[in-house]
Amino acid sequence: MSKIFVDACFGKETPYTPVWMMRQAGRYLPEYMAVRAQAGDFLNLCHNPEMACEVSLQPVDIVGVDAAIMFSDILVIPDEMGMDLSFVKGEGPKFSDPIKNEADLEKLIGGEEAASKLTYVYETIELIKTKLADDKALIGFTGAPWTLATYMIEGQGTKTYNVCKKMMYSNPELLHKILRKVTDVVKLYMEKQIQAGIDVVQIFDSWASAIEPGKYDEFSWKYMVEIAEYLKEKYPHIPIIMFPKGIPAFLDKVYGNFDVFGVDWSTPMSFAKERLGDKYILQGNMEPCRLYSKEATTKCVEAIQETMQGKRHIFNLGHGILPDVPVENAKHFINECHRVSGK
Ligand code: CP3
Repeated sequence: MSKIFVDACFGKETPYTPVWMMRQAGRYLPEYMAVRAQAGDFLNLCHNPEMACEVSLQPVDIVGVDAAIMFSDILVIPDEMGMDLSFVKGEGPKFSDPIKNEADLEKLIGGEEAASKLTYVYETIELIKTKLADDKALIGFTGAPWTLATYMIEGQGTKTYNVCKKMMYSNPELLHKILRKVTDVVKLYMEKQIQAGIDVVQIFDSWASAIEPGKYDEFSWKYMVEIAEYLKEKYPHIPIIMFPKGIPAFLDKVYGNFDVFGVDWSTPMSFAKERLGDKYILQGNMEPCRLYSKEATTKCVEAIQETMQGKRHIFNLGHGILPDVPVENAKHFINECHRVSGK
């Protein structure tokens, strides 16, 4: 059976424009919170294929999105490379021993050995595929090497990125060595996700905007493109979505062999369409906080539809859904996307 989401990623005619939401499997759903409580700790949830499968399917069943995204986190990669990850309540992710020098990097597990340790992710994918309806797509994902490296170097989330930017300008060779090692793991990790059964790949570069435009290609985009090209050569039937958040100044320079460009909420859809719409399918891009108001949601969905005209487009938010959004407002967003684009 053809999947409308996959068709849309390749620019094929579809009965309506498909939609999903970044971070759709998460805390705004009481059903997620129940499974999360059962798991105890967030990482336990990621490590348990049965539970991870259950929360991956929740947004499909409850909110009506056209694709599931497998439940995991981008930071399981550095965790399995040997960095000790924990999630401290209210504070987010933490690595106890961030990379400070070459010796720290050399200690980390790389390549096939690291990718092979993420078995629980592949098992989650296999399980989801046995339960997901045939007409829905399953999205697999990774963090971009740059976004992963920010956590590996800073040891946690950051507002200023001063530790990794200090490395960028005073020891770029070391930063490139980190990005190289992560890129090599990510290529194999994504290949294994494809072999386990995902239908679509998304690469999240959530912290793209931390890099000055003239340096973005060197420190992030070229590594993302390398991953996409590696996968495209072997698996041309798997669409690839690139989501670099907050880089409008780089849009004229975007290149590479991938299918869908994820537009973040700070970039007007018309601006992205002018620059990239002929070359790539565009995904996005409602400001996630509009979900607090049904009226604001409808207005934005209609405006995006007016710009995209139901062509070469996938609806989404312009970044992740927030935990305090009412479920019925999320449902309203999905219904409105289907309503305005229905043919
Ligand atoms: O529904 C989905 O999109 C699938 C699951 C998913 C999670 N994280 C689950 C999660 C995905 C795709 C991610 C990606 C992710 N993780 C990104 C890139 C996407 C983005 O939003 O930009 C980033 C930067 C991370 C790192 C991360 N993980 C942070 C900063 C945090 C803490 C902040 C927060 O939202 O709580 C996490 C934890 C996390 N990952 C949660 C979930 C549902 C919350 C954990 C909980 O249940 O308490």
